[in-house]
Amino acid sequence: MKFHLVVSSPSFDKGITFFRDELGFTLEKITPSEDPSLAVFSGSGINICLDKTIQAAPVTLRVSTDNKDLLGIEKIGPNGTKVIYELAPSTVNIPTLQQASVDINEVDKAHWTIGRAGMKYRNLLPKGSWDYVASHIQIPGSGTVPDWVHYHDAQFQVIYCYKGSAKLVYEDQGQPFIFNEGDCVLQPPHIRHQVLESYEDLEVVEIATPLQHSTYSDHEMKLPNDTFDPDRNFQGQNFIWSRSSDRVWHHGSSDSNLSHEISATGIDQASAQRGNVRVLRPVKTDQTPMPLVPFPEKSTHDFVLWFVLAGTAFFERSNGAALQRVSESDAITLINVSQEDMSVAFRDSSEDFALLEVCLPNRASES
Ligand SMILES: [Fe+2]
Repeated sequence: MKFHLVVSSPSFDKGITFFRDELGFTLEKITPSEDPSLAVFSGSGINICLDKTIQAAPVTLRVSTDNKDLLGIEKIGPNGTKVIYELAPSTVNIPTLQQASVDINEVDKAHWTIGRAGMKYRNLLPKGSWDYVASHIQIPGSGTVPDWVHYHDAQFQVIYCYKGSAKLVYEDQGQPFIFNEGDCVLQPPHIRHQVLESYEDLEVVEIATPLQHSTYSDHEMKLPNDTFDPDRNFQGQNFIWSRSSDRVWHHGSSDSNLSHEISATGIDQASAQRGNVRVLRPVKTDQTPMPLVPFPEKSTHDFVLWFVLAGTAFFERSNGAALQRVSESDAITLINVSQEDMSVAFRDSSEDFALLEVCLPNRASES
């Protein structure tokens, strides 16, 4: 089956010139040969049927392109056919607000939206125009997930398994695996993948950039695929499945005041420093507990998300804002805030307190 967009073209030869010579379509067929009145073109994923004999309303063709010379150009063809060149959606940069933002997204006040197949989404970002995705996603119950082989063109995308588990499969990474609570995956750009099943009220935290990335289906590839190439490079990044069962805790700094320990995920190396994910927890001590000060060592982050995985603490900021109690599923975002602007701390944390931390570097420092 093939779909054709019918374009009326009383000036038949001009119509052919427009689609073939000006827009670069391939002329597939022209008929009847003695006095042509119908021409079929193909190109860039669309078929056009140019018809001299019918009457039809003018159509608009929107062309996605990265070619800066064409952007904003409008062309008018036969029968008022309008062609508009626009920036390809994946390259649209949402202007990220430059102002500093510190926000606490409390789960008790959260607004959940229902997506496809009963998935529940909670946006963890403050109001505003930010070039990030930060979502808390729930899939209630257990069972098959109505997903298919697809890929994304995000520059950075991580999924952290907060609760429950899921069966996932990724291109070139072997057999499906169980993504357990505390695990984290880096999904490099264009890696084909599929969520097969979810179990026990799966909850994940997803962080991605840019906001306007696209998702594409791949109808050709079946997963798991035959190739096994875990070191494959996807646009400069590697897939990584960081398992909570492999987690090693260590003090991340020589600062003796540090009262927390860190578990690295390897996502900084796998993503070629496009972002990092760590888990932090207080050190158990007999002495008076020091504040848990988790501000990332580097101050060159545009974006920091802390998601409370367990326990409670009081969030403090140096600008005099009142201490705020945070508990499980609350999320704190720092956007365009540097260590020089403000210091923050989590005080009086419960013993079981644990924080997921996702940092994205300052764009100016990206190579
Ligand atoms: Fe996906």
